[in-house]
Amino acid sequence: MGMGIGFGKVILFNEHFVVYGLPAIASAIGTKTTALVERRPGSGVELKDNRPETKGYKAEKFGQQKESLDHMLKFMNIDTKNSAFTVALAGDLLAASGVGASAASCAAIARAFSQELSLDYSDEKVNEVAYEGEKGYHGTPSGIDNTAATFGGLIWYKREGTSHLMERMKLRKPVEIVMGNTGLVADTKLVVGGVKERKERDPERYARIFKNAEQLARDARRQLESFNLEKVGSQMDANHLLLQQIEVSCPELDTLVDLARDNGALGAKMTGTGKGGYMVALTPGKELQERVAKAIEKKGFQALRTTIGV
Ligand code: MEV
Repeated sequence: MGMGIGFGKVILFNEHFVVYGLPAIASAIGTKTTALVERRPGSGVELKDNRPETKGYKAEKFGQQKESLDHMLKFMNIDTKNSAFTVALAGDLLAASGVGASAASCAAIARAFSQELSLDYSDEKVNEVAYEGEKGYHGTPSGIDNTAATFGGLIWYKREGTSHLMERMKLRKPVEIVMGNTGLVADTKLVVGGVKERKERDPERYARIFKNAEQLARDARRQLESFNLEKVGSQMDANHLLLQQIEVSCPELDTLVDLARDNGALGAKMTGTGKGGYMVALTPGKELQERVAKAIEKKGFQALRTTIGV
């Protein structure tokens, strides 16, 4: 039996902009997906998905998940006509939009096949396989999700043509965050496609927004590395504004952002695809984290208490 893991992630700066080669910052969070791969007689792949989920997520993603698995099997040169496998997904990462669930499952599956078939994949190779898998969920992934899911930690990420630049960043110590779940499942392909369409329709306005996003990520890296959390918080607020301007937020995300800020978060923004999924709030210290999480739960949303920079 082969086993593998993939980390859940949070994008702290510049989702969407990262698709166009702008720098972005992401961190692994404390929850992960596991995959078990086992040979069985016959042919084909049977997928058992035992991950906890946001209601409707698995059904909604079923077709894309199958496409993703086919992409990965092909890329790994695994012949499923003359051999058969069971792939079982589990772990404590919620299968939901905005936490890198698809990428975490892809990295976990790549590692599990590598172990089961003694392929001896390096992390770089796992990341390449997971990137192929991500293409099943959306046609033009920037690669940030699979990179964060594969390597973990806090990363600076930039897409460079068909390649990418990844640099590890360090925080003086881990910082508490709260992630609020809208409970809505988003289709990354559609939301990413929407940005492309609007960008083509209004290139000058989008060029201005993109310029601000580029500068913001560079400033945020400096502030994160010098542990100036107040500044980082206000930069997250500024990033949310830019994401609103490219129309990937939604009323539920804006409500969660306001709730977090009203309850003392240093900053808050939508994270990941948007149009549903998760909001992330910077809440250093257990007390502030608990206050913000409770306020979110009181309004009927799920809250995830976790940390960045581990
Ligand atoms: C989704 O988690 C992040 C996006 O920027 C898409 C991508 O980077 O491929 C929206």
